[in-house]
Amino acid sequence: MEKDKLLIIEDDAELQTQMKWGLSKAYQIFQAEDRFSALEILKNEHPLVITLDLGLPPKPDSTEEGFQTLVDILGHDAMAKVIVITGQHKKENALAAIGRGAYDFLSKPLHLEDLRLIIDRAFYVARLEREHRELQKQVQGYVFEKILGTSSQMQSVFETIDKVATTDVPVLILGESGTGKELTARAIHSRSARQKGPFLAIDCGAIPENLLESELFGHEKGAFTGAHIQRLGRIEAAQGGTLFLDEIGELSPNLQAKLLRYLQDQQIERVGGREQIFVDARVLAATNRDLDQVLKDGRFREDLYYRLGVVTINLPPLREREGDILLLAKAFLQRFSLEIKKRSKTFTTQAIQAIERHAWPGNIRELENRVKRAVIMADGKKVTPKDLELTSSYERYHGHGLKEAREALEKDMVMIALARNKGHLTRTASELGISRPGLYDLLDRLGISRDKG
Ligand SMILES: Nc1ncnc2c1ncn2[C@@H]1O[C@H](COP(=O)(O)OP(=O)(O)OP(=O)(O)O)[C@@H](O)[C@H]1O
Ligand SMILES: [Mg+2]
Repeated sequence: MEKDKLLIIEDDAELQTQMKWGLSKAYQIFQAEDRFSALEILKNEHPLVITLDLGLPPKPDSTEEGFQTLVDILGHDAMAKVIVITGQHKKENALAAIGRGAYDFLSKPLHLEDLRLIIDRAFYVARLEREHRELQKQVQGYVFEKILGTSSQMQSVFETIDKVATTDVPVLILGESGTGKELTARAIHSRSARQKGPFLAIDCGAIPENLLESELFGHEKGAFTGAHIQRLGRIEAAQGGTLFLDEIGELSPNLQAKLLRYLQDQQIERVGGREQIFVDARVLAATNRDLDQVLKDGRFREDLYYRLGVVTINLPPLREREGDILLLAKAFLQRFSLEIKKRSKTFTTQAIQAIERHAWPGNIRELENRVKRAVIMADGKKVTPKDLELTSSYERYHGHGLKEAREALEKDMVMIALARNKGHLTRTASELGISRPGLYDLLDRLGISRDKG
């Protein structure tokens, strides 16, 4: 193993020889006699630990040059560990040096044993500090506004977010369910000049059309039965901030037209109102539907599509993000095991293999949920494939009759489809290629409750 680099700054020739002789077995020694040669070595060799004689030329009898050297060293490398060597009984100098950032001090005459001990400990602390900083730097490189990702696809997503954040253009965020569309929208908002304004999210697929109109645009008192008071819509409420329209593909033709009008001239009209109201809210939209198909079917206006998608961000499915699956799995495991069980857990080798093999149809949300459940279920320090419910189909179905195996497979597929469609039954049925009543029967037969998300 390579020896650690130690810089000795000492103008006394005899002491130099003595220190070199006593320390060169354990360390790679560099020697300097004055401030300038010391800084030269510091820049070229980056020693972690330095011993510094306070009395240096041109004024070896004062501490002035020594202190200046200390300041220069720390200015160059704030984490350098400087051990100050003072003349006899000069305690006040030693303390002043500590006050200016020296790591420790020793008085002459030097005892080699003491010196070695202090130097060893200084190296130990220096290495720990650097490892810690390295680790922090790594994690910082992987997380962008709460979005974890090292894959090249995610790095370029981060770059796009940074670019669009400084503008006010609408952004269309595309990606399968659970890929982080909402997280991305929040990241754009927090990096924008609107960060102090509101961020409002609304799921256009979850609200019936007649309610959605007043939810988005607000209504005047008496606009319809039940409209007892005037109410502001989400667009108005997002004034000065950002409005995130999730599941934009679900918007009805009427609302598409109203939204387009807002995007064109920033004016809205409340339901039952006559007045045009100016609103400054940035619109971000998302969908996990194949918008091209929706466009082809004529269910989405092309002009609105082009308005919304001035910039589009495509979030890749988790299974395509090289290196991110394990990074995310470990990050979630760390977070949930500390939160829920107050102590850290690790995956077994088999669990890691199962995680890498799985296709993650529900993407990051599925991973998050599986790891959370596993943390609750796991008894010991280790999380197994069984805790994650990622045992292979052979293990799962082996030993059962064909009828049970078929039922287990059916249940798996229904659960995955439900999760992917956020519990939306019509969409789940269509993905599974069965009718809606057929899905009801299936859910009853398999004992799955209908609100399962
Ligand atoms: N890259 C990521 N790093 C950390 N957490 C993430 C990441 N991507 C998503 N998540 C987490 O996964 C969950 C799902 O993310 P989000 O709600 O943003 O997805 P979505 O694409 O909007 O999903 P849906 O289509 O189902 O609405 C959230 O809890 C979110 O915090
Ligand atoms: Mg979402």
